[in-house]
Amino acid sequence: MLRFPTLVSLLALALPHVARADPCVVFDASFNLYAFGLNGKDWNAGTQDAWASGTAQDVTTSGRPPFDGTGTTCYLAQFFNAIYVLNGDKANPSNVHIYDAGAKSWSTQATTPGTFDFSSFDAILDHDTNVIYALSKNELFFLNMGDLKAANETALTWTDVGKAPYDPSYEPVMGLAQNHIHFLNVPGTPAGDAQIFVIHYSFFQPEPQAYPLPDGKTFPATHGQVASFFQESGVQQEFAFIPDDGSTTYVINVETNTTQALPGPSTKDPKASYAAGISSLVQLDSTGAISFLPYKQGDASTNAQAAWAKVANVAAAAPPGSSPSSPSGPNSTNPSSTGPNGSKPTTNGGGSQTNGNSDSGAVKLSGTSMSAMVVLAGMFGVFACVL
Ligand SMILES: *[C@@H]1O[C@H](CO)[C@@H](O)[C@H](O)[C@H]1NC(C)=O
Ligand SMILES: *[C@@H]1O[C@H](CO)[C@@H](O)[C@H](O)[C@H]1NC(C)=O
Ligand SMILES: *[C@@H]1O[C@H](CO)[C@@H](O)[C@H](O)[C@H]1NC(C)=O
Ligand SMILES: *[C@@H]1O[C@H](CO)[C@@H](O)[C@H](O)[C@H]1NC(C)=O
Repeated sequence: MLRFPTLVSLLALALPHVARADPCVVFDASFNLYAFGLNGKDWNAGTQDAWASGTAQDVTTSGRPPFDGTGTTCYLAQFFNAIYVLNGDKANPSNVHIYDAGAKSWSTQATTPGTFDFSSFDAILDHDTNVIYALSKNELFFLNMGDLKAANETALTWTDVGKAPYDPSYEPVMGLAQNHIHFLNVPGTPAGDAQIFVIHYSFFQPEPQAYPLPDGKTFPATHGQVASFFQESGVQQEFAFIPDDGSTTYVINVETNTTQALPGPSTKDPKASYAAGISSLVQLDSTGAISFLPYKQGDASTNAQAAWAKVANVAAAAPPGSSPSSPSGPNSTNPSSTGPNGSKPTTNGGGSQTNGNSDSGAVKLSGTSMSAMVVLAGMFGVFACVL
């Protein structure tokens, strides 16, 4: 359609494929739930007991990213009570924005992306190493966040680990548990199975692992979103997988290698994103509405009774439906358009543990030794991939 060049239409033409901006949901280390970039602001909904009523707190403050991009994802670094934001600034996609949830302050970390493509990836933040792993166009990258809860002046480098041994058409669906990345819906992999990358050894397991349901059924081989649940202490043991059709919520346990089937979200939305804490799974849908499913690990009968409910205090502060994004320019939003080719990266690896800034995790290594290990592991991974 031709338009006369008003300012608005010129902006629209300059950004032909720009979808609405994406907010994100994420927890801090005390399990306060945040909605960043929702209706142009940032909200703290507090802990789960506070979600049913009242009004979420406006925590919009200086230094925040504009939250004007698509595919925005947020990750909680539990050991540091810090939240990392990818794709929070459309104009500067390689910036990682860091929210120090303790200090309630933002800073901007520069990164050197190399060939990493911010428009097409899925990622997790590894709990123990504080390293982001991302699969982009079937190439695995990592970004070592070290012990950052505020940006360093030195840019961080996205390191190319090597190719994943998957079909190049693979659209990644990544779940983190036990420092293993679980790749779901890998072409050629049976329903109910995950392919695994072992982070500490930078190693793609040759065989998939099966995670059957109690009745012998399987979760489907289909695209979806993932969020890892957290523990009181220690690494994640479980992650939720929500297929794009939203029919069921699957919770995969990598200790027992089993899967539970729980109710799918009330809003079936392939563009929804998710975050998990210890005792809830949270959905942010593409209208900006936030819902949650209460959850209790190891308690199948309680989980069988659980029902999705609204996070009402955020809805009271930022009503869904009108503008889920951050309108930092004149009506830049187009709520009906989709992100890059339909699916956006999952928000997993976010969330955190209740022991706050504790360094008690036995597997927490020093930054230096861990960096060396990651680099060595990365080299090994490249070597292994070449072989
Ligand atoms: C989206 O699809 C278009 C056309 O099909 C393609 O050119 C583009 O590379 C895709 N983008 C992503 C992020 O996959
Ligand atoms: C910040 O950068 C300097 C210089 O590269 C480095 O020595 C230091 O370890 C970095 N700090 C953190 C917290 O990563
Ligand atoms: C579960 O799967 C992991 C990964 O393949 C494997 O190492 C572990 O031995 C399995 N555990 C059980 C109880 O089968
Ligand atoms: C901006 O969006 C609002 C709400 O959809 C609409 O009423 C208004 O006309 C729009 N303004 C422009 C300049 O497009």
